[in-house]
Amino acid sequence: MSDILRRGRLASVPDEEIIEFTSSMSADKWIFNSDILVDLAHTVMLKERNVIRAEDCREILKGLLKIREEGIEKLDHTYEDIHISLESRLIDMVGEDVGGRMHSGRSRNDEVATCIRLTLRNELLLMMEDLLALRNTLIDVASENVDTLMPGFTHLQHAQPTTLAHHLTAHANAIGRDFERTRDCYARVNMSPLGAAAFASTGFDLDRERTRTLLGFDGIVENSMDAVSSRDFLIETASVFANLMINLSKMAEELVIWSTSEFAFIELDDRYASTSSIMPQKKNPDTAELLRGKSGVAIGSLMSLISICKALPLSYNRDLQEATPNMWRSLKTTRSSVRVMNGMIATMKINRENMAGLATAGFTTATELADTMVRVCDIPFRTAHQIVGVLARGSGEPTLGEIDAVAHNVIGESLSGRGLTEQMVNEALDPTMNVRKRTVTGGPSPETMQQLISNCKDRSVGDEDSLKGLKANVDSAMEALFSVVDDCMDA
Ligand code: ARG
Repeated sequence: MSDILRRGRLASVPDEEIIEFTSSMSADKWIFNSDILVDLAHTVMLKERNVIRAEDCREILKGLLKIREEGIEKLDHTYEDIHISLESRLIDMVGEDVGGRMHSGRSRNDEVATCIRLTLRNELLLMMEDLLALRNTLIDVASENVDTLMPGFTHLQHAQPTTLAHHLTAHANAIGRDFERTRDCYARVNMSPLGAAAFASTGFDLDRERTRTLLGFDGIVENSMDAVSSRDFLIETASVFANLMINLSKMAEELVIWSTSEFAFIELDDRYASTSSIMPQKKNPDTAELLRGKSGVAIGSLMSLISICKALPLSYNRDLQEATPNMWRSLKTTRSSVRVMNGMIATMKINRENMAGLATAGFTTATELADTMVRVCDIPFRTAHQIVGVLARGSGEPTLGEIDAVAHNVIGESLSGRGLTEQMVNEALDPTMNVRKRTVTGGPSPETMQQLISNCKDRSVGDEDSLKGLKANVDSAMEALFSVVDDCMDA
C-alpha cells in the first residue's frame, strides 16, 4: 500500500539518507507495546463515545492484538515512526474503511507523549524495585559489619576510625533518597496527555478521563497544548538518574580503590573482574570501572535532553523526537548499573583484618585524644587541637610523657597535672573505643548503627509497600483494559 501519511500532501519521497535522518523507528522499539495499549484504549473510548461503530471497533481491536502478537519485526521499518507504521499495518490487515478510523480525534503528538509516559512509568516501577534491592543488600552487608573497623577518610586521607557498617549505610541512605526521587517523579510521569490531539484537542466528543483510567494513569495533563509539548518529565527523570548514577559512581570508585594492593579492603567476585591480555597475574575491577564510566552516559543524556528542549516554542516540534532516545539511553544504563552494583556488593569478599589493621594508620585517633584532653583537663578544644597537632608531627602515637612535654611548651603546664592518665591516653588511641564512644545519632558506634540499620529496614518495608501499591494500580488497570477489550470483541 502507498504511504498512508505522505500520499496526500507530499509528492516526492525521501531517500534512504533522509529516512535515516528523520525516522524514530529504532528508538520506537521502546514504545511498541505502549503504542498498542494506547491504540486499544483510544479505540475502545471512540466506540463508547459513538465516534466509531462497534463492529469497526471489534475489527480494529482484533487487528491490534494480532500486531501485538506478531511483534515489532513484522512492521514496515521504512516509515518515519512506529505510530504510522503500526497504523499502516492495521489498515493492511482490516482495510482502510475500518482501520482508517482508529486515528480519529488523535494526533501522533498526543499519541507519542502518551506512549513515552506509559513506557517510562513501567520502567520506573522496575527501577524502584532494583533500588530497593540494592539498598537491602547494602543494609544486609552493613549488619554483618557493625564491628568491622576501618579508617574513615576525608580528602582520601586517613581521618578517624569508623566501621564498614557506617560506611555502607551512608551509601544505603543515599540510595534511599534516589528511591524517593524516583517515586516522586513517577507521580508526574504517570499522567495522560491522550485526547490533546495535535495540541488543540478535538471536536470529536472524546472522554479523556476514560482513556486515562483504561491506561492506568493517575491523572491527565490537562491543558492540551501543554500535554503535547512538555517533556519536563523526561528532564526530571534523567536528572534523577544522573544524580543516582553519581551516587553509584562514588561507590564504584571506592570499589576500585579498595581492590588495589595498597588498600586490599575487598576483592570483587571473579565474575565482575577481567584480566590482562599480556599480564597474566592481573585481576582488574573492570565492571566497577565501567559503572564509573557509565555515569557519564547518564549525565550526557541529561545534558542532551535539556539542550534539545531549551527554547522550543509551543506546541509540538519535531525536535522532541530527538529528545526521547536520550531518556532510553539513560534508563538502560542506569538500571543495569543499579543491578550490577547490587551484585558486586553482595558477592565481594571483605578483608576485615586489612581494614582493621589500617584503622589507626595516619594517627586517626588524634581527634579523640584532643577531645579526651578537653574532657579531662578542662582546656579549650582549640588548645588541645594545637597540642595534638604538634604531637602529630612526630612518628607514631604519643606517650603521656610526650604529651606533657608538648603541653608544657603550649600552655606552660603538664596535662597529667590536670588529671590525664596513661590509661586515658591508651583508651583515646584505641580505635574500638573511638568507635564505641561515637553514640551520637548516625555515628558509628555498634548500638547507633543497629538503630540506624533498623530504621533503614523499617523504611524499606514502607517503601516496598508503597511500590506494591503503585504496581497494583497499574496491574489492575491493565487487567480491566483487556477485559473491556475482550467485551468489545465479543459484542
Ligand atoms: N516520532 C515522533 C516523535 O517521537 C512522533 C510524533 C510526530 N508528530 C509529528 N507531528 N510529526 O516525536
